[in-house]
Amino acid sequence: MDEKDKISLPEITIEQLEEGVQHVNNPIVGLKPIEKRYLQQVKDYKQVDNDFFFSDGESTVEVKVVSDEIIRIRMAPQSTFLEDFSYAVPKIPYTASLFSFKETELDYRVETNTVSCIISKKEFLISFADNQQNMINEDFSAMHWEENVDYGGYYVYCTKKSHKDEAYFGLGDKPTKFNMRGRRFQNWNTDTYSFARDQDPLYRSIPFYIGLKESTAYGIFFDNTYKTYFDFGHEEDSKTSFWAEGGELLYYYIHGPHMMDVVKRYHTLTGTHPMPPLWALGYHQCRWSYYPESKIIKLAKTFRDKKIPCDALYLDIDYMDGYRCFTWNKKYFPDPKKMVKELADSGFRTVVIIDPGIKVDENYSVYKEGKDNKYFCRRSDDYFMEGHVWPGRCQFPDFTNPEVREWWGGLFKGLVETGVAGIWNDMNEPAVFGSGTFPDDVRHNYDGLRGSHRKAHNVYGMQMVRATYDGLKKLYKNKRPLTITRAGYAGVQRYSSVWTGDNLASWDHLKLALLQCTRLSLSGVSFCGTDIGGFTGEPDGELFTRWIQLGVFTPFMRAHSAGDTREREPWSFGETYEALNKKFIELRYKLLPYIYSAFWENHKFGFPILRPIVMLEQDKEGNRFREEEFTFGDKILISPILNPGQTSKIVYLPPGTWYDYWTHEKLEGGEEHIIQAELDSMPICVKAGSVIPEWPVMQYVNEIDLDEIKFQVYFSTYEVNSYYYEDHGDTFAYEQDIYTEKKFVVKGDACSCSIRQFSEGLYTPRYETYDIKFIGLPFLPTRVIIDGREQKVEMEFDALKRVRIKANKNFKEIQVLI
Ligand code: GLC
Repeated sequence: MDEKDKISLPEITIEQLEEGVQHVNNPIVGLKPIEKRYLQQVKDYKQVDNDFFFSDGESTVEVKVVSDEIIRIRMAPQSTFLEDFSYAVPKIPYTASLFSFKETELDYRVETNTVSCIISKKEFLISFADNQQNMINEDFSAMHWEENVDYGGYYVYCTKKSHKDEAYFGLGDKPTKFNMRGRRFQNWNTDTYSFARDQDPLYRSIPFYIGLKESTAYGIFFDNTYKTYFDFGHEEDSKTSFWAEGGELLYYYIHGPHMMDVVKRYHTLTGTHPMPPLWALGYHQCRWSYYPESKIIKLAKTFRDKKIPCDALYLDIDYMDGYRCFTWNKKYFPDPKKMVKELADSGFRTVVIIDPGIKVDENYSVYKEGKDNKYFCRRSDDYFMEGHVWPGRCQFPDFTNPEVREWWGGLFKGLVETGVAGIWNDMNEPAVFGSGTFPDDVRHNYDGLRGSHRKAHNVYGMQMVRATYDGLKKLYKNKRPLTITRAGYAGVQRYSSVWTGDNLASWDHLKLALLQCTRLSLSGVSFCGTDIGGFTGEPDGELFTRWIQLGVFTPFMRAHSAGDTREREPWSFGETYEALNKKFIELRYKLLPYIYSAFWENHKFGFPILRPIVMLEQDKEGNRFREEEFTFGDKILISPILNPGQTSKIVYLPPGTWYDYWTHEKLEGGEEHIIQAELDSMPICVKAGSVIPEWPVMQYVNEIDLDEIKFQVYFSTYEVNSYYYEDHGDTFAYEQDIYTEKKFVVKGDACSCSIRQFSEGLYTPRYETYDIKFIGLPFLPTRVIIDGREQKVEMEFDALKRVRIKANKNFKEIQVLI
């Protein structure tokens, strides 16, 4: 029996409903009555600026116009609203210009230029329509709340109509079918070692989904940190419900009509990733654990000897002294600063793990400081929250306390002085051996608002990594930190990247990796990745290579494995696989400028980095069930190979013209193609009209000072824009507009092809030349015109009719023609 079933109640009569408050017998606890209250007929309303308050005499609903496309709803059962505070939405991004209010005989209407929020008078149902009055999202029944007999609190409920074929996407990292219709989920951050397909909940809680009704998309962000539930037509095909075990029924309706609009607008509420340091986009090698020092030095040397690019090496818990955070095991690492420098000298960044559990040890300064300052979480009876994790008996900082966050941020000073470049935040669900997590009664500061663990549990990890990120940012001065976290809540992207936790070395987990990353990307967390190869279990060479291939196209690319597994480096499976792994890691490095530009578009505009096919063509019904094609950024489409022995794949391409990345064969979109993909290949297609920047293969970011940059221009008969972003790569100068964004516009016909360049920004790269390769020209050019003047430019042709020219980086227009 799951949580919802436990409290399912006998049918309520209309008379009871009209009475407002019902007292019905609870079948579980015998005689104790459960109080359950639905909103009743609206009695009055009032407007305060862009807030409208509707009351049924006892409960009040607030309708807040946030922007033309975002409306926030919240319900106060007894008309007293809770403090308007959110960890997910630090500041409501008000932008609504004009809105109006109308009352008709049957309803009230709050209308912006694009959305109508309709509040029916009699049933108090809330619906959203577009400006053509097409209904997009409607309450099935009035919002309600009911006593929670298990916890002594209450549930808040919202039930929407679900239309036949309405599809649902989002909710973070659920390891399940991409379209969530027919499923029920809960959000409660949970340490799920070796999780299985369909297991729920996992490590993160992102209570945001995108609905796709016919061809119109909308979003619902239920900003509630308690344990929340979502039922997408599981209990009843015609209903979608979401509810929480406490807190407020507060949700944002986010208008589309495109999925991309919804995701972008969700980012305006919850924020985007700051620009990561460029090196963080390289390949990372991790294991539980690389120690002692000689081992990690040898690892670094092997990468360089074998010329397999790598930017970061990780130290798991064994680098610490008895798993005490912020200490070093001096037996294994006698001189960490020297070692970190040695690694840095050969181009490796060192990233170390930190857990929230602080060992109870009077001789350990972190414990002493935390204890003296009362920074650790306490139970309701005032005793400390204690639990066993890696170091044994531990206490846990209350990261929902701003003072504790400040303290925690400062604790990284030593690691930063040692030269550590990134912090991996683990076990922050929070995980506790045995009991799983904290008991519900643990108290939290909750930024001064106070609350039990029921309220703070899902944000604990996010607040830990927030403390880490903010602390590192101060300590690194103007350098960008890398943070990684396992747990998180909506908005965690403002502080960290995310990896999906303890997965398994299996082909099914490779498929889950794809699902989890595309889903996370739609849910605001684009900087995500999985443990390449699978954390537990043993991949064979083929699985590892296919995972590396997918890894090239996950924003965070790190191989990681559990301590009881065999060695798991790119060369661990023999020479054949080593060569293949190297080839694909090199591909990642070639594409780094493209990848970095996709990060910029995420940071600046809230475009997700990974975009599943349904997002590219949402009105094609079949796309709601296609799970394997996605684009990285907006130009490169990937459909990774996910089965053993598979050497070709049917790939669907959205309308338009595409090119096979490897063969340059032209492929028409709007249909399926069979693409060959032996183990040394994978289906990658590039959209016609794209300008893809490429760097030469480097062993680590910035190994080489570039004196020119390559662009691959894919011929198109329709006009296509591409954006290319560059900046210092590791500072925050981009916040002061020190960056350059270039727009390329490509268009061609039967006898010419032109590329125009528009450049904006204050950053000046050092290179002077572009090395441009035209792909797919339908003619062999004989002339080149640069900025209106015919130039004698050397053209190189190869067997694939690619035409290569060099040009000064400041050109405005290049034309190649017959
Ligand atoms: C957890 C992490 C894993 C890490 C291990 C030891 O299981 O998810 O990545 O290696 O702890 O720190």
